[in-house]
Amino acid sequence: MKKDFSSRPEKETTQWVTWQASLTAIPSLVFVVTGWKSNGKENACLQSWTAFRGGGKDEFVCIMSAVSKNGHMYQSLKETGVCVLNFPSQDIYDRCIKTIGNNDFEMDEITAAGLTSEKAAKVNAPRIKECFLNIECEFLWEHDIFENTGVYGYEEVTIALKVVNICMDSERYDQSKLGRYGKTGYLYEFDHPTNPETGDGVLNVSTGTIELTDPIPWITK
Ligand SMILES: Cc1cc2nc3c(=O)[nH]c(=O)nc-3n(C[C@H](O)[C@H](O)[C@H](O)COP(=O)(O)O)c2cc1C
Repeated sequence: MKKDFSSRPEKETTQWVTWQASLTAIPSLVFVVTGWKSNGKENACLQSWTAFRGGGKDEFVCIMSAVSKNGHMYQSLKETGVCVLNFPSQDIYDRCIKTIGNNDFEMDEITAAGLTSEKAAKVNAPRIKECFLNIECEFLWEHDIFENTGVYGYEEVTIALKVVNICMDSERYDQSKLGRYGKTGYLYEFDHPTNPETGDGVLNVSTGTIELTDPIPWITK
């Protein structure tokens, strides 16, 4: 049975995201944003809530909807104007998580997490060698999305990036080999999926992959 929710359910227990985010728990791509800090050290920041769109003459734009204004990533991107979006598969995600615990300003965060830093091809930023896809970007614009920091204390902006180079493992763009999806492909996060009526659920960030289904016949009438 479908039910309507227009205000926070009484039993909702989530503390880290809004109740709407926890109710819908819409999957979101996970990737690591890398760049140089002002002291010349590597910065690495796990990120999600992002959309990608190709359009215009030959353009590809990325909209990161929720960038914390208090983190190194925002600072580094505003200073250098560039960054790399690095997409991990499941087998290296344990190391990507270590970027969170190795987030000191004085640290080379890619190296400290047990990953390998390499030079990007078109922008002045480090990229992660082990990631199967690296998207090199230039800063376009930012926009405040919330009127205030609210009860969750977020101070976030939406940032648009212009893609200037894409580096992808040939085994992933060949769907007959490792491919882009399934257990070896893109990683998603499912943010705190809870039952709004009981408060039960996953009070943490869960991750998973997606599988392509058999094609659905394209009959539009
Ligand atoms: C799966 C996952 C997704 C995340 N997504 C975001 C995000 O979209 N925006 C954000 O500001 N922080 C996000 N974070 C938290 C940051 O990765 C974390 O605060 C990081 O240490 C900040 O790094 P920085 O200081 O280099 O910016 C996420 C964390 C995880 C584990």
